[in-house]
Amino acid sequence: MAEEYDLVIINGIVVTDTEVQEWDIAVKDEKIARVVPRGGLQGAKATNTIDAEGGYVMPGGVDAHVHLQEPPLFGKGSTADNYETGSRSAICGGTTTMVTFAPQKKTEDTLLDTLAATHDRARNNCYNDYSFHLLVGNPSQRALSEFKTLREEGISSLKIYMTYEALQLHDGQILDVLLEARKQGITTMIHAENNHVINWMTAQLEKRNLFAPKYHGPSHPPVAEIEATYRAISLSEFMDTPILIVHVSTPQAAAHIKSAQSRGLPIFAETCPQYLFLTKQDLDQPGFEGAKCVCSPPPRSSESDCDAIWDGLKDGTFTILSSDHCPFRYDDAETGKKSSITAEHPVGRFKYIPNGCPGIETRLALTLSAGRLELTKFVEVTATNPAKLYGLYPRKGGLVEGESDADVVVWYPEGKMTEFELRNDMLHHDVDYTPFEGRVMRQWPRYTILRGRVVWDRENGGLMGEKGYGRFIKREASSLAKPLKEGEWELPL
Ligand code: URP
Ligand code: ZN
Ligand code: ZN
Repeated sequence: MAEEYDLVIINGIVVTDTEVQEWDIAVKDEKIARVVPRGGLQGAKATNTIDAEGGYVMPGGVDAHVHLQEPPLFGKGSTADNYETGSRSAICGGTTTMVTFAPQKKTEDTLLDTLAATHDRARNNCYNDYSFHLLVGNPSQRALSEFKTLREEGISSLKIYMTYEALQLHDGQILDVLLEARKQGITTMIHAENNHVINWMTAQLEKRNLFAPKYHGPSHPPVAEIEATYRAISLSEFMDTPILIVHVSTPQAAAHIKSAQSRGLPIFAETCPQYLFLTKQDLDQPGFEGAKCVCSPPPRSSESDCDAIWDGLKDGTFTILSSDHCPFRYDDAETGKKSSITAEHPVGRFKYIPNGCPGIETRLALTLSAGRLELTKFVEVTATNPAKLYGLYPRKGGLVEGESDADVVVWYPEGKMTEFELRNDMLHHDVDYTPFEGRVMRQWPRYTILRGRVVWDRENGGLMGEKGYGRFIKREASSLAKPLKEGEWELPL
């Protein structure tokens, strides 16, 4: 009897984090059932067939740094996309799994209520599969005691901040978090910027009447990131706890990370397209336009900074490439970038511009279009490593027979897609701009497949998915990030 499948993908070039092969794929019951040399599925019956026509076939993207439906935390303003619009945008750009933040405010004592409230926002609203990192704003005794339950609930990572008044933890609180995270097998993500340096520089700039968006750059000088990155590494080493430094932007911070890794420490790092494609020129636009690129850390000085970040992706300093999708509408005086404009400050006041840029839909296509990474490296940093780092692999981020969900992106065959300039009205988020407007795109997902179902078909109607098809995925402990020593941390005496 011939095998029967729900879907077969034939004539593609399959790319995983280790292989580039002419393979065909069969999908059954939402899973990757078989991956075989081209032609090997001849005679098999399938309900649906996709002919990739020689295009790349990759695991669906995993974006492990996404802010949706958050309250004001990063300056004035609150995030534009909700779970519906953010996840819709994700699948149209090939991201089949996202990990968003469940934000605990400083005024809140518990994390479990935060988790429940975030589940309520996401449930029945997502187009893609999802999980949450807890964003710990108040590591109270109660919150720390809840880490164990978080793990049982499938949450194996959290994020803490060394900056932002609304979220900043001092070093003692960071040690409290690292100790408990170590005990429970939780990976700690750290936003490493020195808040005192940022506040001091902000005061210096304002004293000189420098308020325009472009001064966001000098208000967050490289030293703020470099010092905090080194401190975060030092605290992690002291506690023998793995950490991931998020959204790294400077070559010097990357050098600290690389040096720690070469000493065998479990230090992981993330960068984002903002630091590959944008520079301080993008902040220095006429009028208020530069506000579109205000994020923290800021885009750095020059293309050579961007080159160093590309190099860090190539040499493994950066484990993952995430979007840090943190969307605020530009032309919105209530909750968006323009909330920082007053009669007294007609080009805004940089310190009040909400920090963050949209990018969940553009992360994969922008990076692939740049053609600067080996294909296997591209898959590694955009899908496989985020899945491994955050306890989703092999269910997500791979094409493993019998184990991986059938989450797949099919790209255009070389030469088949006409190059185009990116325009915001092509995107599916609920934001009125993209910081990557006008960039030349040489690739875009032709199909996105989530658990065997085509949710994006660029040539035939585009969005095919349905809100609510996306599921919460319980995560295991990281398969990459582990302490060096087993057992409880011992007080060094
Ligand atoms: O500017 C940024 N990165 N906004 C998002 C918040 C964060 O720190 O990730
Ligand atoms: Zn951050
Ligand atoms: Zn972020």
